Amino acid sequence: MQPSGTLRIHELTAEERAVYATLKPERLPEHVAIIMDGNGRWAGRRSLKRFLGHQQGAKSVQLVTETASRIGLPWLTLYAFSLENKLRRPRAEVNFLMRLLKSYLESNVQRMMDNNVRIRYIGRTHELPPEVQDKMRWAEEATARNTGTTLTLALNYGARSEMVDAFRSLAEEMQRKHLSPGHIDEEDIHRHLYTANMPDPDLLIRTSGEMRISNFLLWQIAYAEIYVTERLWPDFRGVHLLEAIADFQRRERRYGGLGEGGGEVEEDPEQIRIAAG
Ligand code: FPP
Repeated sequence: MQPSGTLRIHELTAEERAVYATLKPERLPEHVAIIMDGNGRWAGRRSLKRFLGHQQGAKSVQLVTETASRIGLPWLTLYAFSLENKLRRPRAEVNFLMRLLKSYLESNVQRMMDNNVRIRYIGRTHELPPEVQDKMRWAEEATARNTGTTLTLALNYGARSEMVDAFRSLAEEMQRKHLSPGHIDEEDIHRHLYTANMPDPDLLIRTSGEMRISNFLLWQIAYAEIYVTERLWPDFRGVHLLEAIADFQRRERRYGGLGEGGGEVEEDPEQIRIAAG
């Protein structure tokens, strides 16, 4: 379903419009998730400090979000800061990323309003510095009534810890309601994830060429199409989002079934001898 609010195709760049013209608007993914990677390499290739890569990466976040809102993408989720980033990066880099997030929100909420974008978060955000949490709350409240794209930033996020949190809260609910484990179904797990009110991603993009999921939305990407590009995140723009969507639209999604035309069985499988050994 498209978010309410008008499409703003006329605001796309000429390059974006050329790719958009090849898309089937009725087959737009509902939810695109992105593992933003390569900020450090982008800086390294220019003999710059890593933090400048992150700064440039924050610009990509805004530009890609605006393109998403112009084409009426309902959900965009970005992996901005993982639990592992917090534990395994030098403190100075973590502090820089926190300051960058604060300043990103400060400087971009007006642009989010202009683009009808709603900001939300997933992750153990209560463990982030209080002043960062204050800014996050402010941005979330300011944009809460926007009806276009929902931009979800995954912050202090890890998929396994999300599952731990979900199972804990599901177990509490079951105890309260005196339910036995046999009652648990997939919908119950979905209800207790951070993403309870969101559709699962249809398309997962990873930049900078790594073939990894890195503990991102493990439950939710069960049927997502995966698109990996060599492009580093600070060089990723709206036009590249559109290219990824064009690639997604060329694929046949099967959800474990046979897909179009796959139902024609030429021989009766009962009659086929299975060779042993
Ligand atoms: C990977 O680059 C990216 C991150 C650590 C997370 C993404 C962060 C941003 C885009 C910065 C700002 C975000 C917001 C929302 C303001 P890397 O350092 O792992 O790159 P490398 O693998 O090349 O070293």
